[in-house]
Amino acid sequence: MKGSLTKRTKIIIAVVTVIVIAAIAGGLGYHFTHKKDTNQGTQNNGSIPNGSKGAYTNPDIPINVDLKIQSNSSYTRSFWGLAYTPLNVQFPWCGDTQDEVIEDLKILYQLTPRIRIYGVDCRQFEYIMNGINALNIRMGVIPTIWVDNNQTTYDRQHDTFFQVTERYGWDNIIGVSVGNEAIYRKEITAEELQRRVKEVRDRITKAGHPEIPVFSTDIEQLDKILDMSDILFDNVHPFFAGTRVEDASSWTFKYFQENDVAVAAKVGKKAVISEVGWPTGGAPDRGAIASVGNLQILLDNFVCEANKRKVPNFFFEIFDEPWKIIFNEPRETMWGVFSDKKQLKAGLTLPNCPLPAFGQGSTSLFE
Ligand SMILES: *[C@@H]1O[C@H](CO)[C@@H](O)[C@H](O)[C@H]1NC(C)=O
Ligand SMILES: *[C@@H]1O[C@H](CO)[C@@H](O)[C@H](O)[C@H]1NC(C)=O
Ligand SMILES: *[C@@H]1O[C@H](CO)[C@@H](O)[C@H](O)[C@H]1NC(C)=O
Ligand SMILES: *[C@@H]1O[C@H](CO)[C@@H](O)[C@H](O)[C@H]1NC(C)=O
Repeated sequence: MKGSLTKRTKIIIAVVTVIVIAAIAGGLGYHFTHKKDTNQGTQNNGSIPNGSKGAYTNPDIPINVDLKIQSNSSYTRSFWGLAYTPLNVQFPWCGDTQDEVIEDLKILYQLTPRIRIYGVDCRQFEYIMNGINALNIRMGVIPTIWVDNNQTTYDRQHDTFFQVTERYGWDNIIGVSVGNEAIYRKEITAEELQRRVKEVRDRITKAGHPEIPVFSTDIEQLDKILDMSDILFDNVHPFFAGTRVEDASSWTFKYFQENDVAVAAKVGKKAVISEVGWPTGGAPDRGAIASVGNLQILLDNFVCEANKRKVPNFFFEIFDEPWKIIFNEPRETMWGVFSDKKQLKAGLTLPNCPLPAFGQGSTSLFE
């Protein structure tokens, strides 16, 4: 989605600066001590699991939380997909834990069959894969191998990605994004990004999984993004287009149809809304007003309608990201349907149009 994004641009540049500084301060790492375990392929039929561990879990990662999911009657699995960033995964200041990620997954599992994450640093990707196995559930996961302007960041994330998939397998991986808005931030040329997407795709194919779509995600140069990608992933933000919230859902469907679905179809490809959401506080963008009430309006107008139309989308996002306050734009911290304390925001009612659990018909991005 291209629009009037000046404020956002500044924030994104700031994010990048921090990641670069983080990379400079880097050197933190971890090593895998075990070989691939072949006991993979957790099956779960969608009922709430009983707390017994499923397929391979890493014996070196202690788990101190109850693995039984307490079903919550106010949750239904109604989001097609959810964007998820665990707390404290900003390298090298890693503060995330396996237990916290498991608590997140207990909620996510009851709200959606699919999640999308933005990087693999701070063991977040491993904690998610290990946590899914520990909970004996299945969920579709789209990891991002983060791309900025620093080769070191990319190499670290790339290597971690392949270490984790070698260990935990590919059963839950429904797509891989090489970068998110890296071209929009002008951190990489389309040609170099294309080279990386191809390299990752070739390696995944060699690992025996040519069926897994590989792509980059962006909001600019979508023709080139489409060319290098198996599926077109576009972050479609009615808020940054300045739409009134009452119009946001229909704006999103129309924008996506015209700029993504129709364009991708010309070359025989599909398209996905990789982000759509609404902030609950902070400054307005023209007619777009940030508030909990307005997030509720978008939830009401968009989520179930998207399921009905089979419009694949990742709602941005499940939890608030308080760390983004360092970028001086409070609005960026408040896109969560839930607070960072894992509580549904006061005043919100979740959508109710349940989808099957992943692995029960919803075995890909599109079903
Ligand atoms: C990239 O990060 C590494 C350390 O992680 C650092 O040594 C290098 O200077 C960085 N490069 C740029 C261009 O910032
Ligand atoms: C789903 O799994 C639960 C527990 O594992 C089991 O009790 C139930 O019979 C299963 N349902 C189907 C339809 O397989
Ligand atoms: C829980 O379910 C798994 C399979 O889904 C089964 O192997 C295990 O015996 C069950 N445990 C209990 C305590 O019911
Ligand atoms: C169910 O979810 C609501 C909303 O997040 C929360 O307030 C409540 O504590 C949850 N109930 C249980 C039993 O976890």
